[in-house]
Amino acid sequence: MDIHIDDKVKLSQAVDLLENSGLAMRITNYLGKPIEKSMKMLPEKVTGKIQQASIFSINKALKIATLSINTRLKGKKTSNTWHKVLSGTSGAVGGFLGLPGFIVELPVSTAIIMRSILDIARSFAENIENIDKEGFIIQSISRNNTPLTIITSKEEIGLLYGTFRFLREMQMHENISAKTIVDSPKIQLRMLNHWDNLDRSVERGYAGFSLWNWQKLPEYIDQRYIDYARANASIGINATVLTNVNANALVLTPMYLEKVEALANVFRSYGIQVYLTARFSAPIEIGNLETADPLDKNVQEWWSNKAAEIYKRIPDFGGFLVKANSEGQPGPQNYGRNHVDGANMMATALKPFGGNVIWRAFVYSEHDDTDRAKQAYDEFLPYDGSFKDNVIVQVKNGPIDFQPREPFHPMFGAYKKTPLAIEFQITQEYLGFSTHLVFLPKLFEEILDIDTYQKGTESTIAKIIDGSLYGNKLTTMAGVANIGTDLNWTGHPFAQANWYGFGRLAWDPNLNSGQIADEWIRTTYTNDKAFVEPIKKMMLTSREAVVNYMNPLGLHHIFDTGHHYGPGPWVDDLGRPDWNPVYYHNADKNGIGFDRTTSGSNALEQYAPFLEKAYSNTNTIPEEYLLWFHHLPWDYKLKNGEILWDGIALKYQEGVDQVDDMIKTWEAAKPFLNEEHFNEVHMLLQIQLKEAKWWRDACLLYFQTFSNLPLPKGVEKPAHSLEYYQSLKFPFAPGIKPSWN
Ligand code: GCU
Repeated sequence: MDIHIDDKVKLSQAVDLLENSGLAMRITNYLGKPIEKSMKMLPEKVTGKIQQASIFSINKALKIATLSINTRLKGKKTSNTWHKVLSGTSGAVGGFLGLPGFIVELPVSTAIIMRSILDIARSFAENIENIDKEGFIIQSISRNNTPLTIITSKEEIGLLYGTFRFLREMQMHENISAKTIVDSPKIQLRMLNHWDNLDRSVERGYAGFSLWNWQKLPEYIDQRYIDYARANASIGINATVLTNVNANALVLTPMYLEKVEALANVFRSYGIQVYLTARFSAPIEIGNLETADPLDKNVQEWWSNKAAEIYKRIPDFGGFLVKANSEGQPGPQNYGRNHVDGANMMATALKPFGGNVIWRAFVYSEHDDTDRAKQAYDEFLPYDGSFKDNVIVQVKNGPIDFQPREPFHPMFGAYKKTPLAIEFQITQEYLGFSTHLVFLPKLFEEILDIDTYQKGTESTIAKIIDGSLYGNKLTTMAGVANIGTDLNWTGHPFAQANWYGFGRLAWDPNLNSGQIADEWIRTTYTNDKAFVEPIKKMMLTSREAVVNYMNPLGLHHIFDTGHHYGPGPWVDDLGRPDWNPVYYHNADKNGIGFDRTTSGSNALEQYAPFLEKAYSNTNTIPEEYLLWFHHLPWDYKLKNGEILWDGIALKYQEGVDQVDDMIKTWEAAKPFLNEEHFNEVHMLLQIQLKEAKWWRDACLLYFQTFSNLPLPKGVEKPAHSLEYYQSLKFPFAPGIKPSWN
């Protein structure tokens, strides 16, 4: 490295000043966490690293007093992100889980006043052009044989992300001075969707109530809002939709907007933009209009005024997420208009302020008896390219509804002009609620890695979502949040890994789930390999286990009514055919499965020809999708030579055995855990085992009434009768409004 001698002197002076404990002490005292005290709380290994480390921002840090995080905020209050960097370092080091943590305050704020360092640092930092506005560079140099670490960013937010990354590296005992990290997010909008209602219930929420305490807002700022924002920033999440897609128009009234503004004020300095769900009929419900027709001038004006009102309070408001003409929600079709009319009307209202419309494609109709898996594609494909440039169409990962395993949604790859957001479900509606340990990044990764073949080979979903395949400008990954008021945030301690993993994949959809599990375990528990390796293995097999004991070989949507808790393959009495499990498994004496080939619904025609052909043929379709696309006889021969009935039964048993193994793994890890952490997961795993057996027994007893075949060797006998399982009722299951009447 070639540094001018004058610069070297200045750098030396600056670093001396930085390391002068008096100055550092004054700054950290001001922030409330004296360094010395904090350092004492650290394990020795980490202390060594921190003493050697200093962090400088080379860019916006100098302008901190006048800078605002978003150019749209010019003239507004000064950004507070620097202080977030500082408080971000405490707690963050304690792990995402928030285990009793180390409190660390690095003398970062000294950088604010160290112009000379910053200017010099710029001259030998990695090329700043290699990062985007949220990116960062972490790089170490040596000064008098003392390693010095520099974090560089273009914007303050990159500095915050870089600091969190630095802390993660330390927690993982990585040798930071041996590497240079150049990183930027690959996706622009990395977004949580909260399905939170204004009464604080959470649709499909299994971790307590909604975090948003609407009654006490705006005056009362719960510490958890800040912790939530910090946890999100630590994994790069930069947008949050506060309210349920089954929206309540009241959130758009002044009384609630004031509360939303208070939350936005908290989240802003963590780089998080707030979005709201917009109920399409809001102009009628809260605007006294007689219609919500998107082509009506008054309606258009109402939305434009509403947008202006919101932006006056929240200048960096993200925009609206809309569920329209889906599952009874109002939408443009109520007025004979279409999705484009509806979305573009809202997009026009938001455009002057830089806001986006995220329009969901989760649609299927009770008036249409086409296979539900086909409906969204059929309805939306003709509109590709007709939406305004601030509209994003949000599509669930699979064509039905967040099942333990689904093939990918055929709109991915088929939609070429309008940007698509992928919607994953982090909350475990169909995966055992927050009682079952299921590591979802494995599921997310499976989808992101899939080749759609829509633009030749390597047309992966990751490339569609990050915009690289079709050159889309707006890129988004959304995850339905699993966060609530539970002390541990997510109900199951391991469900935090799903929040963490979602954020990591939204940052970089090419990450590997093994790496994510590794990071999470090491930053949450310990770096000891004897703990990390078996627990990682447990996490990585947990997703396949849940598929096996719930929905093996492509079975899907055989959950009990409404709440989706436990099995209900026999349910056949719901209002519309496609709400009934019997619609999906089609079991009869001849066999089981949904025929989606040309002899059935022909949903396969919606995929690229290569996949259509491969999946149409039972010899070439991956067996995990077999019964999703084919109806097959009970004695159909699987690749391993088993007949289908035996194969299904053995898969159910395998799922149960896998949970048994998870328990053994956890028990072996006991020496690494305190009693509370050990017991909590141990008890949850026992419930998971009980419920895995429930799934196995109930489904096999029911399907056996069609197959009329005995259970193969190796499958345990059911504990109860089919009638017993069918009699179980759960009117108070979490995640839905109780329905005891
Ligand atoms: C599922 C879920 C609903 C939710 C819907 C949606 O159907 O069960 O609770 O509202 O998805 O995504 O809109």
